[in-house]
Amino acid sequence: MPTFSVFLLPTGIFLGLTALSAALQPTPVCTGLGCDDYLGSGKVMDECGVCGGSNTTCRLISGVFKHSWTKVGYHKIVEIPEGATKINVTEMVKSRNYLALRSRSGRFIINGNWAIDRPGEYEGGGAMFTYRRPNEIRSTAGESFVGEGPTNEILDVYMIFQQPNPGVHYEYLLPSEQPVVPQQPNHGAEGNQAGYDHHSNTQQERFHPAGGGREPPRLPDNHVPAAQPATRGREYNWRPGGSTECSASCGKGFRHSIFHCVSRLNQGQVSDALCDRSSRPTPQEEACNLEPCPAFWDIGEWSECSKTCGLGMQHRQVLCRQIYANRTLNVHTSHCRHLERPEISSTCQMKICSEWQTRSEWTACSVPCGLGQRSREVRCVSNVGDFVPDDECNMNLRPVDVENCDMGTCAKSWFYTEWSSRCSADCGMGARTRGVLCLTNQVSGLPLEGCGGERPADAQVCNNGLCENRIEWFTGPWSQCSAECGAGSQQRSVVCLMKSDGGFAVMPPYECSSLDRPLGQQSCKLKACGAKWYHTDWSACSKACERGFRVREVRCLSGDAQPSEDCDERRRPAGREDCNPEPCLPSIDENCRDKYFNCNVVVQARLCVYDYYKTTCCSSCSRGAHRQSVRHGRR
Ligand SMILES: *[C@@H]1O[C@H](CO)[C@@H](O)[C@H](O)[C@H]1NC(C)=O
Ligand SMILES: *[C@@H]1O[C@H](CO)[C@@H](O)[C@H](O)[C@H]1NC(C)=O
Ligand SMILES: *[C@@H]1O[C@H](CO)[C@@H](O)[C@H](O)[C@H]1NC(C)=O
Repeated sequence: MPTFSVFLLPTGIFLGLTALSAALQPTPVCTGLGCDDYLGSGKVMDECGVCGGSNTTCRLISGVFKHSWTKVGYHKIVEIPEGATKINVTEMVKSRNYLALRSRSGRFIINGNWAIDRPGEYEGGGAMFTYRRPNEIRSTAGESFVGEGPTNEILDVYMIFQQPNPGVHYEYLLPSEQPVVPQQPNHGAEGNQAGYDHHSNTQQERFHPAGGGREPPRLPDNHVPAAQPATRGREYNWRPGGSTECSASCGKGFRHSIFHCVSRLNQGQVSDALCDRSSRPTPQEEACNLEPCPAFWDIGEWSECSKTCGLGMQHRQVLCRQIYANRTLNVHTSHCRHLERPEISSTCQMKICSEWQTRSEWTACSVPCGLGQRSREVRCVSNVGDFVPDDECNMNLRPVDVENCDMGTCAKSWFYTEWSSRCSADCGMGARTRGVLCLTNQVSGLPLEGCGGERPADAQVCNNGLCENRIEWFTGPWSQCSAECGAGSQQRSVVCLMKSDGGFAVMPPYECSSLDRPLGQQSCKLKACGAKWYHTDWSACSKACERGFRVREVRCLSGDAQPSEDCDERRRPAGREDCNPEPCLPSIDENCRDKYFNCNVVVQARLCVYDYYKTTCCSSCSRGAHRQSVRHGRR
């Protein structure tokens, strides 16, 4: 007997759910395509599948289920309500767990009854589901199923738990009038809802969890009505006559009892039409050939080759499986011992890798002398000769396609312009000129002396013929500008000359009066003036003698006469100074003179108070009075 020990029965004990989150946010969908019949209407299908809709008729329900259990087996993860669309249940990382999907009417859609389905399309709950199980060895993507919906009944998502759950992301859309809280399995009732703990302990029943088969549930034997004898006295009646062939040669099939219509008289078999059809006993069904079929290797598709060219590896899934009761079950590999195990990986080579080819000669060097570059065409060519993208060839082996080239030192040569077509003098001797430059030449094969030796002449004598006596204004050079900065003026001499072959003669200006006289003066400005100190004139002195003071206003002004801070403080002109330092002298009055030689004695004797002496010694007395007042004032 096979033991099917891969999965143990779940116990129905359900630990608390964690990390079940519902996010009400739209998921991005491709909205690039118009959905309207009218060309150019610009309407697109919204998230909810409404043409030109505004994403409001549906809600997104999504979450991540992260719970792990201690018992292996089926555990319910989430319930998808009727009417759900865009269902996506994806294991976040590859694991040995499996997803399973079952409808409420009791039918498994994916991975029911301990049998692992191949990836593919499965129909149920009114919708098609695409079940994927990434087979690549290196892939870390988990398994998933997606369905467009809408579903027409509640669907339960299970995990066949074997190892810690890496997390399962689920999402679906619901019309917005429906409740949007995801239906989570309810802890206590879980086992009963799932129905896995309804198994009896017989091996045979284990593959028929109550209500969970892919075939209609079998009627218990005691419900099968017994064959009924003919009630009315008839000539013909039904008689059991063996049973059908077993429906399976191994692994549990069924057979049904057969009833023949026989004649009552001689028990001979007659046409069934002679017996009463309604009294025909219901055929009994009986299980047969219960011994399991031999296990076999179920071989999956090869994965893609790991390399697009050259030697790579590919892998496939090989499962030991056994058919029982029309179900294909995964069993332990030891059951396939009797068969050679097919390879699960093999080498593969899609094609021979492409190779580099040099498709052209080197180009000429980019410069005629000195260092330049040259290039050639290098292409990756497939083994049938097509050009293919470079990354199909080994980049490490790519031949160089650009390299430097050295064309030797650059030679220099004289370059000239043509001689000017005009002579510098209108008449008499003048000169013609040309440009002469020494430059690096870019044409090899020029004379090697280059710019060595003498510089070629750039002027040449020319003669426009005899000059007649000609009168002209001649101007001298401009004088210097009168202002160092700001507006000034400058002059030049303007003279009237007569030019002849013999030379020049200065003529009176009226000889040139028929010609426009050049300007002899013009305004000039060497540069803008910076800030400068400006000041007014001094005020009058505050005193006529004996040190008074006087003031003036000093301002720093910019070039455009605006107040400025930019003047040099050290050069600031004084705004105040002393003036009239000389002592005050009494004015010499002809009427106030000393009339005696010894008037100083009068002053010393203090006789000046008397009018007589004040008059006679007027000068000395008034000087003494002044000194006295000065002395008095200083005290
Ligand atoms: C609906 O949602 C999608 C994706 O979030 C967005 O690109 C689109 O503009 C939305 N449409 C409206 C009408 O809001
Ligand atoms: C389903 O969800 C997974 C995880 O969010 C995502 O990577 C995947 O692209 C989705 N599949 C489809 C068909 O939307
Ligand atoms: C077994 O499956 C085959 C094909 O799917 C079907 O024809 C047959 O009736 C099934 N037998 C039983 C016993 O369910």
